[in-house]
Amino acid sequence: MADANKDRLVSGDIDDLNEAQIEKSLRPRMLAQYIGQDRVKHQLQVYITAAKQREESLDHVLLYGPPGLGKTTLALVIANELGVNIRTTSGPAIEKPGDLVALLNELRPGDVLFVDEIHRLPKIVEEMLYSAMEDFYIDIVVGQGPTAHPVHFPLPPFTLIGATTRAGMLSAPLRDRFGISEHMAYYSPDDLSEIVKRSATVFDMAIDAEGAHEIARRSRGTPRVANRLLKRVRDFAEVAGKSPVDLQMVDHALDQLQVDAQGLDQIDRKLLMFMIRDYQGGPVGLSTIAANIGEEMATIEEMYEPYLLQIGYLKRTPRGRMVTPAGFAHMGMTAPEPDNRAQ
Ligand SMILES: Nc1ncnc2c1ncn2[C@@H]1O[C@H](COP(=O)(O)OP(=O)(O)O)[C@@H](O)[C@H]1O
Ligand SMILES: [Mg+2]
Repeated sequence: MADANKDRLVSGDIDDLNEAQIEKSLRPRMLAQYIGQDRVKHQLQVYITAAKQREESLDHVLLYGPPGLGKTTLALVIANELGVNIRTTSGPAIEKPGDLVALLNELRPGDVLFVDEIHRLPKIVEEMLYSAMEDFYIDIVVGQGPTAHPVHFPLPPFTLIGATTRAGMLSAPLRDRFGISEHMAYYSPDDLSEIVKRSATVFDMAIDAEGAHEIARRSRGTPRVANRLLKRVRDFAEVAGKSPVDLQMVDHALDQLQVDAQGLDQIDRKLLMFMIRDYQGGPVGLSTIAANIGEEMATIEEMYEPYLLQIGYLKRTPRGRMVTPAGFAHMGMTAPEPDNRAQ
């Protein structure tokens, strides 16, 4: 999925190793520095304080929401706040039960095991997690053939933090084992402005309030996108010898990058335009959209659609996706009268 979007400036996915390194330096370490997501933050603060007072491990936590909204960051923050170690892995990386045993074996009481993309855990591994999460033990089979026998393997109390972009793909038994489940929402422009200003300090660059706000406004509610746009804007500003970066500089850079006033890029616009031109705005099935704009269905569902739905340019109907009047307006078009299009 990330590969298909390697060149996409406004995707929430991580681009490459270099970006992963930069993100590390931009990550807040404690809840107090974690900007936005106030509801999630307040709840976690309570649970963390209570767990520490009781000297127990924190209940298992599920974080779900679109890419780039700070799930991994929050997992690290939780471990820091608890004052415990964190082991990081991902669903597809745990291929077999033995891999999970090895991970669990290294945990100390109270530690955090972070499993990114937890919806991609192999079934057999997932089933092993049930008892690990619920009662802190696993049963493993040792040996082969006639000498094979089950071994009961107790574990220290630990906290599993799972992150996923697709909460709907989690099985009910797994979902039910998370005592704490938090939905990460898109960020407001004000919160993103704060993130941009904070990142600018880390990058050692000067940006005024208007400039920061403009980047925020065009970042699709997503910190990862905001940080990425900030980095590109910095390049343009440096070449132009412009400091502090102001609104005009941001406008110029983002126009060059073809990120429009709402943060849509060429692919978003291609998608909307296809639906408008060929289907009068829809309804259009996902597979038809995918085939015509040359993207995979899953990519459209996970990366393009959520934001277009969020800002109300697209809506889902039982018969397919439809462009809303606001979506038409953004593309400089007028929506046909409801009577004139198939409902
Ligand atoms: N609340 C936040 N405050 C400050 N920076 C944030 C926040 N959330 C995310 N970021 C930044 O955005 C980037 C992406 O966050 P990440 O946790 O990797 O997202 P996810 O795991 O949801 O894809 C990180 O570099 C992080 O520094
Ligand atoms: Mg992540």
